[in-house]
Amino acid sequence: RSVGIIGAPFSKGQPRRGVDRGPDAIRAAGLLHGLHEQGCAVKDYGNLTFEEPPDDEPVGRVKHVRAVGSANQRLSEAVQAVKLDGRVSLMLGGDHSLAIGSIHGHAAAVGQLAVVWVDAHADVNTPLTTPTGNIHGQSMSFLLHELHSKIPILPNFSWVKPCVSAKDLVYIGLRDLDPAEHYTLKLLGVKLFSMTEVDRLGVARVMEETCDYLCAKAKKPIHLSYDIDAIDPAVTPATGTPAVGGLSYREGLYIAEHLCQTGLLSGVDLVEVNPLRGRTKDDVRSTVSTAVDLLLACFGRLREGNHPPDYVLP
Ligand code: ARG
Ligand code: MN
Ligand code: MN
Repeated sequence: RSVGIIGAPFSKGQPRRGVDRGPDAIRAAGLLHGLHEQGCAVKDYGNLTFEEPPDDEPVGRVKHVRAVGSANQRLSEAVQAVKLDGRVSLMLGGDHSLAIGSIHGHAAAVGQLAVVWVDAHADVNTPLTTPTGNIHGQSMSFLLHELHSKIPILPNFSWVKPCVSAKDLVYIGLRDLDPAEHYTLKLLGVKLFSMTEVDRLGVARVMEETCDYLCAKAKKPIHLSYDIDAIDPAVTPATGTPAVGGLSYREGLYIAEHLCQTGLLSGVDLVEVNPLRGRTKDDVRSTVSTAVDLLLACFGRLREGNHPPDYVLP
């Protein structure tokens, strides 16, 4: 497996400082070492740098539109470059507004995608329904073909073209949706496994059904967008919008292991790790090390153990 890491230290899709320190915290916790050790060919493309557009006044209710637009355009190009190098792209956020550029770039490079969005939140508010104005709660609305007519023209967003069909999207872990988001998902018939379905079916059946659903017709490359707040805040408290009643560490890992086993993972986001949140150092340590464990599972680590393909008993 060949992985290309892009750090995206960007926080303006939401109001709290610190989420821009996610990429370096995740690297410092040993991500690259772990990937090497399990036999991945890793290339770290480093951290992107972002411009700060002047006079980035709210547009309607939406905050930091120009900064989010230009950051995601950069990210989209970076993801395309990683894909053209033949690697699985791994974007370390940063806030979840970065899924706009990550998924856009991935689709631009490989064509139609299946998207698995693991999150407490659906992030499918439009600029007109957002109750907060934070673009990290709107990312999916810019990407869905079916919402195209509902998206107003915004500065620095003209490059964004919708690239995901509602039928190619599955949500897992939902438990904190705004009314407009819930309405939209029902209207579009989006497949979702909220925490209620995780409770009812168990994570193994959720993943079986997710893959059956997404692979029903063709085996499209999978984009996994993993928001760390999908995991219960008892395990991953260092995040900006924690929501109680989340996935256990084991359920979170199972999702990553299962998607890895499909052999179709082609792009991954790990977002919303905020080392300045959480009450204690241990809160931060637990959040960051869980993020690393999820990513190692995405790229082949199994809890049963692993060994190199050419291993010989001495
Ligand atoms: N639904 C809320 C909003 O629109 C919260 C979104 C939280 N999103 C996230 N990526 N953590 O602002
Ligand atoms: Mn999110
Ligand atoms: Mn979330």
